[in-house]
Amino acid sequence: MKALEAHNLNKTFHQRHQIITAVKNVSLSINSQEVLAFLGPNGAGKTTSIKMIAGLIQPDAGWVRIAGSDPHRNPVALQKLGAVLEGNRNLYWQLTPQENLEYFGVLKGLSRREARKSGLALLERFGLIPKRHTPVQNLSRGMQQKLAFAVALVHQPQLLLLDEPTLGLDVEATEDVKILVREIAAAGCAILLTTHQLSIAEELADRIAIIQSGEILTELSTSELIRQFSGTGYKIEVETVLDESHVIALENLGAVVQDTQIIHLSQPELLYKILDIIKPLPISSLEKEQANLTQIFLQIIRKGRNQDA
Ligand SMILES: Nc1ncnc2c1ncn2[C@@H]1O[C@H](COP(=O)(O)OP(=O)(O)OP(=O)(O)O)[C@@H](O)[C@H]1O
Ligand SMILES: [Mg+2]
Repeated sequence: MKALEAHNLNKTFHQRHQIITAVKNVSLSINSQEVLAFLGPNGAGKTTSIKMIAGLIQPDAGWVRIAGSDPHRNPVALQKLGAVLEGNRNLYWQLTPQENLEYFGVLKGLSRREARKSGLALLERFGLIPKRHTPVQNLSRGMQQKLAFAVALVHQPQLLLLDEPTLGLDVEATEDVKILVREIAAAGCAILLTTHQLSIAEELADRIAIIQSGEILTELSTSELIRQFSGTGYKIEVETVLDESHVIALENLGAVVQDTQIIHLSQPELLYKILDIIKPLPISSLEKEQANLTQIFLQIIRKGRNQDA
């Protein structure tokens, strides 16, 4: 059974005389242990989709199953779900971390004893034991975010929804979140992650879905997406500058020389000929030219926009 199945979700908002189609026929599914990055520009429909999956907004059409249960009809579904939504709204600011964990643990079906035990283990794991009796409003933003994670995990959900979980976090806290996402997925949870930090998505996601204007444009495994958008060429960087005779010989073979130190080669079969030419100059790097997720994302989004226009 899939941890998440969302089928043909649709949502339109009516504002004064305006009709906003926020989400159109969005289908997503995630297996346990899998991280799906759900990416798209501002206003694309990510948060609206996540809120429908979390049972917080009723879809106009379509359905959601969380480990087989419908969050809009069956409260059991909510016990299988944890969410860190935009802006820590799943915390009570006047309560302490320990109180929040107990409160939400009980709300999600644990006994008070189980909630306390699970809460303390999470406080330990997140380094929040020294702050366990400090009201949430007096914690730093990074600590609040860690606590939001802890609260989302207190009942050991099968699906975790993360809407921009690293927004506003410092470099170290962001690294902590990344490690955490990996650990949670490895422990068996399915994760739906939205982020505008594409390097995070590239590092963490098994699969990537890109949404624009409410519709999913692409959904592929991360490696396949990068493979499809990457060339077959190489980029070679030498430590010293290439002299003119090198540059001419390289260009005669069809390579492109940039800043007299970087050689781009689109025909991989010529690699060893190129290396012969530059021998014995020291090489500082040699890599396959691979598209990164930012370039891929921009390409897909711009193409989508042109087709809309
Ligand atoms: N309650 C609402 N009433 C009216 N319009 C809404 C409402 N919620 C969202 N929208 C509209 O739906 C569209 C999608 O918004 P949504 O918040 O889902 O985008 P998003 O992909 O999460 O964007 P961001 O990256 O900026 O967080 C936007 O045009 C937004 O203005
Ligand atoms: Mg959003």
